[in-house]
Amino acid sequence: MPASLTAYYIAPADAIELLRADHDRIRKLFADFERHLEKGARDKAEETAQRICRDVMIHSRVEEEIFYPETRAALDNADLVKEAKVEHALANYLIGQVASGSLADAKFAARVRVLAACMQRHMREEDDVMFVRARSTGLDMGEIGARIAARKHDLQIEMDLVEDRNGDRRARGPSRLTVASGWRRAS
Ligand SMILES: [Fe+2]
Repeated sequence: MPASLTAYYIAPADAIELLRADHDRIRKLFADFERHLEKGARDKAEETAQRICRDVMIHSRVEEEIFYPETRAALDNADLVKEAKVEHALANYLIGQVASGSLADAKFAARVRVLAACMQRHMREEDDVMFVRARSTGLDMGEIGARIAARKHDLQIEMDLVEDRNGDRRARGPSRLTVASGWRRAS
């Protein structure tokens, strides 16, 4: 389906509720990663780390492409947006390393944990301050949310699934992703 048509097929959703739901899912994924590691389930831990990379990338992209530009002018403290973008840049750097790594690397878990710390701060600031202020601006969060949902859908297709020769879809790990801004392989 062409990207421009996607919006017609996705139910409208409140932008802030969508982004908060992303945060909740990302927090749970970081907790799952630790749980799998504790149990010695290394494959599941690595799989979860890849999922974290994908979900954080998609979340960051829709915030930077849609939510921040829409709310920036209305927020009385634009520093909030600047800080959020710096946090995204730091997260992207770590994601580039995690996505191309594995537990065979002694620093893999450390990278996931530093990414978790960075994202926890980022999500707390947004949940407690930015979203509260954004809500009070009177912007149409339903309209912004519909655009966010459509863009997320397109990014999920772009990052997650490729169609093979038979027309079947199969998962594609984010380590093979090259299109995202700020995405780098570990050197
Ligand atoms: Fe966020």
